[in-house]
Amino acid sequence: MRRIRIFDTTLRDGEQSPGVNLNAQEKLEIARQLARLGVDVIEAGFPVASPGDLQAVQLIAREVQGPIIAALARANKTDIEKAAEAVRPAARPRIHTFIATSDIHMRHKLRKTPDEVVAMAVAAVRYAKGFVDDVEFSAEDATRSDWDFLCRIFAAAIEAGATTINIPDTVGYTTPAEYAALIRYVKENTPGIDSVIISVHCHDDLGLAVANSLAAIEAGADQVEGCINGIGERAGNAALEEIIMALRTRHDHYQVETGIVTEQLYRTSRLVSTLTGMQIQPNKAIVGDNAFAHESGIHQDGFLKERTTYEIMTPESVGVPQSRLVLGKHSGRHAFRVRLKELGYDLSEEKIERAYERFVELCDRKKHVSDRDIQAIVEEEVVTIPELYALDYLHVTSGTAAVPTATVRLLKGSEPIEEAAIGDGPVDAVYRAIDRVTGIETQLVSYTLSAVTSGKDALGEVTVQIRDNGSVFVGRGTSTDIIEASARAYLQALNKLIYDRQKFAPSMAG
Ligand code: KIV
Ligand code: ZN
Repeated sequence: MRRIRIFDTTLRDGEQSPGVNLNAQEKLEIARQLARLGVDVIEAGFPVASPGDLQAVQLIAREVQGPIIAALARANKTDIEKAAEAVRPAARPRIHTFIATSDIHMRHKLRKTPDEVVAMAVAAVRYAKGFVDDVEFSAEDATRSDWDFLCRIFAAAIEAGATTINIPDTVGYTTPAEYAALIRYVKENTPGIDSVIISVHCHDDLGLAVANSLAAIEAGADQVEGCINGIGERAGNAALEEIIMALRTRHDHYQVETGIVTEQLYRTSRLVSTLTGMQIQPNKAIVGDNAFAHESGIHQDGFLKERTTYEIMTPESVGVPQSRLVLGKHSGRHAFRVRLKELGYDLSEEKIERAYERFVELCDRKKHVSDRDIQAIVEEEVVTIPELYALDYLHVTSGTAAVPTATVRLLKGSEPIEEAAIGDGPVDAVYRAIDRVTGIETQLVSYTLSAVTSGKDALGEVTVQIRDNGSVFVGRGTSTDIIEASARAYLQALNKLIYDRQKFAPSMAG
């Protein structure tokens, strides 16, 4: 059976999504989850981009076992040296170097002739080979490049030592039939191509990224690149969960296998959404809230008689938690801990304890606590940055005829600090009071509120993005009280901002 390698670039191309800024701990959490998911390659970052990116790739290379850890580098020495430094601790390091090959890019962006570009690609691959055995070469904007020129540059890169050749649809321009034809052309006309892995990398500008990737696999590609939830530059990258489940569900058609533990897909998707602050649309294939919901009477009737009438894959196969009622306030710590394990969480004692306290609080406020509620609480504990400010007390008054007023007490370590403020609404008043305590003024970029489950006593889940000096920080908070959820989300984003300032301020000043 042909084996398709899954190359995840959520932490590199995905992190290039507007407004996404993950810190090293968050990247590590995602990388650990990607390893549980069973991806073959994790592209952990673009080390030359910033010291933070380099450190994050190093951390992942050191801590995450299993997948190949790749770092991106343009075709120049500095980029390659930084990438090599970053992946050095990995058991299986890869350097991924790229240069643009389309006439548009070579003429306007690189201002190089095709001959110069081939020479740069060869030099880059050779230089990378001096650091690692595993070198991937990408021809940026391949789908708008001359096909014979592509074969020429690929042959030269293979000769120089590249072990994977990537054919990206950088601007999401190609179509399934055209892309498949390009893959076949490269396979038939590139000397040495049989000794390397052919990779494909699609963007979603025309909504064709997944279709193009699948067409390329049918045409003989061995590796597929993409991001969880389809995040990434502009309209995003190919959504890996969709490709993976298409290959599994239509195994009869594609006749290929992957090493993916599909039951980990939902958790991976939630984690990426939580940490990036990028919401998943309800009708999103595979991981959206409605992906397995049957609404119309005819569908429900058919489904109840025989599941396969309207279900081509089961929610269990992608790890969607059952909304069965599991625990109540008398269940105790042990049952809670066991349920966490069953849901696939492997948390430190401290995090389990904090999650348990939140669970007990929730049982007092909410009649039925479901797996989805537990998952929402636990996801708040995933963030591992130090909590400089913690919410201790909150009191808000608002109403049709009242000026919204908030009193907030935060704990800075063990020191309580209290402030009050008025605002346009209760959330605004709380955020102003928090700003007074911390002395930090930020710009609120986005605020979203959604209910975790149905029912009037549902948990409210708030996600905020705040901007400080061009960087965006995401925070998420849950509570049956949406004002409290709003305060928690804002505080989490602020704590990340403060952590980032403390971590990078000395080196930036120097
Ligand atoms: O889209 C693209 O071309 C890329 C390359 C760096 C592989 O992301
Ligand atoms: Zn890309």
